[in-house]
Amino acid sequence: YSLKKHNSFGIEVKADKFLSIQNLKDLRTILRKSYAAELFILGGGSNMLLTRDIHKTVLHIALKGKEIVAETDDEVTIEVQAGENWHELVLWTLEHNFGGLENLSLIPGNVGTAPIQNIGAYGVELKDTFVSCKAMNVQTLEEKEFSREECDFGYRNSIFKNQLKGQYIITSVKFRLSKKDHELHTEYGAIRSELEKQAIENPTIRDISNAVIAIRQSKLPDPNEIGNSGSFFKNPVIGGDHFKKLEEQFPEIPSYRISNEEIKVPAGWLIDQAGYKGYRRGDAGVHKNQALVLVNYGAATGEEILSLSREIQHSIKEKFQIDLEAEVNII
Ligand code: EPU
Repeated sequence: YSLKKHNSFGIEVKADKFLSIQNLKDLRTILRKSYAAELFILGGGSNMLLTRDIHKTVLHIALKGKEIVAETDDEVTIEVQAGENWHELVLWTLEHNFGGLENLSLIPGNVGTAPIQNIGAYGVELKDTFVSCKAMNVQTLEEKEFSREECDFGYRNSIFKNQLKGQYIITSVKFRLSKKDHELHTEYGAIRSELEKQAIENPTIRDISNAVIAIRQSKLPDPNEIGNSGSFFKNPVIGGDHFKKLEEQFPEIPSYRISNEEIKVPAGWLIDQAGYKGYRRGDAGVHKNQALVLVNYGAATGEEILSLSREIQHSIKEKFQIDLEAEVNII
């Protein structure tokens, strides 16, 4: 079974078997019948690089549904099934004038995998509106609801990437959204310039969403046209002394201060400086508008993209003494 259509990098690899899971009963039945090690859980396939055939049964989580589960005059809590497409959810919230997800417009992938890496963009992270998620233990079949605290969210990180890696399948996610007096996040420079460009003074959540869509479309390749997984690397965090040294050498280096001792540096800038922006080797490449995004121009293998990513890591280590960590799951 070809997985090419099921990973946003568009890598051609095969799975022994592919099962689309439409309801919890089927999920329980298949988990009961199989060993966890024989299964491979797939959501939207938008945050992974497949480098080999999967000699397992792929469980494609296709649980669907969106529901309002609680409501006051000001707020609403919605529960969304894991197989819903993320951006379609954002559009649905806009239609209902529910605020909170607009900055996260156009992020590829599904709802169920969004908490695993705490998706984030333009000043907002999933954790800001997240209430809880339900997940099934792949060994015991027990269903558990994880609170925000229990998920232990960090920058592109959660407990599902660490202690509980591979142990749970997220089946639904609850979000708390505003119904009025939406708190808008326009602090990100690119959003402000986009609103100015369109002469919008009092933006609505839809205006913010449209601004984010415009920014993303101008910088990030559409996975339907050029295979990619968004940011390939995380933005590295370095020490204050290290940063000071780099700043002497590269006075224009951008940074976000996390604390006095921790400074986040954009990996895209580092890769750009190292000369890789727009670089292409065969069908593997670095996007021409955003160096943080590795792309598949058509027939690249996962190995070729992985090898390019390693070359970039070496080069960044040499030039800036920084270790770049992959954000994408390498399989
Ligand atoms: N930059 C360059 N050259 C490049 C790319 C970036 O010089 O080729 C510079 C920019 O000029 C800017 C800085 O690097 O000064 C930061 O760039 P940008 O605002 O595009 O954001 P980013 O740090 O590269 C992060 C997220 C994105 C998210 C944006 C906006 C990570 C790993 N990536 O990118 O998330 O959309 O901020 O919030 O944190 C994703 O995770 O897949 C993703 C796309």
